[in-house]
Amino acid sequence: MENKKKFVKEKFASIAEKYDFLNTLLSFGIDRRWRRKAVENLCVQPGGNYLDFCAGTLPLSVAILKNVRDPIKVVSYDFCREMLVCGRQKHSKGNQPELIVGDGEKISFKDNSYDGAIVGFGIRNLANMDKGLSEVFRVLKSGSKLIVLDFSNKINPIIKPFYQFYLEKVMPLMGGIISGDRGAYRYLADSIESFPKPEGFKKKLLKAGFNHVYCIPLTFGIAYIHVGTKG
Ligand SMILES: C[S@@+](CC[C@H](N)C(=O)[O-])C[C@H]1O[C@@H](n2cnc3c(N)ncnc32)[C@H](O)[C@@H]1O
Repeated sequence: MENKKKFVKEKFASIAEKYDFLNTLLSFGIDRRWRRKAVENLCVQPGGNYLDFCAGTLPLSVAILKNVRDPIKVVSYDFCREMLVCGRQKHSKGNQPELIVGDGEKISFKDNSYDGAIVGFGIRNLANMDKGLSEVFRVLKSGSKLIVLDFSNKINPIIKPFYQFYLEKVMPLMGGIISGDRGAYRYLADSIESFPKPEGFKKKLLKAGFNHVYCIPLTFGIAYIHVGTKG
């Protein structure tokens, strides 16, 4: 477990500067649409306090803050300082989230402190996913939602062979050339393939304590938005 944490932290630190560019390139820009939809599902309320968990370079934090006119608070939480710093450098205008460096398996906040939480392409990277989900559940207020946006391996069977080729061959190659760390993009493909199918992830959300759990497939099932409510 500790080995995975160290490995993941180092990989993200090494690709931090190229992360956003590669995301857009490798997803042909579709990730932006997915993120917008994930934020819509969070149903942000004026005056609310929101957690962007495994926030990385802040794309979701910024999308939440852009979406609202009324004052809200967004906390961007990640254990990789380099990712947060890159995000801050790229998004230095407009409303800013608060950045906190910390481990998602042991969140440094009190119980019942957030009106909602979102995690984009992050939960899959946790060494202990169940622990991370329980921690997010703990810090959410009763009635609040968790939105998880992540890749899936339950893909439309017609698309699957092409997608698999892209994931296993093209992405590590292109990601490796551009970021200089092929291992990071090989890891990305492996982590997507070993991520639970939507039904399996639903069980994890229920186990962590969430109710009203459902999911929304995106783009032939390449990604899913999972929703769970506390209480
Ligand atoms: C693929 S990036 C996602 C970044 C961003 N949320 C997005 O939508 O693009 C995954 C992030 O999860 C973070 N992460 C992985 N394990 C973590 C942990 N145990 N605690 C906190 N952050 C973690 C990594 O540092 C990385 O920034």
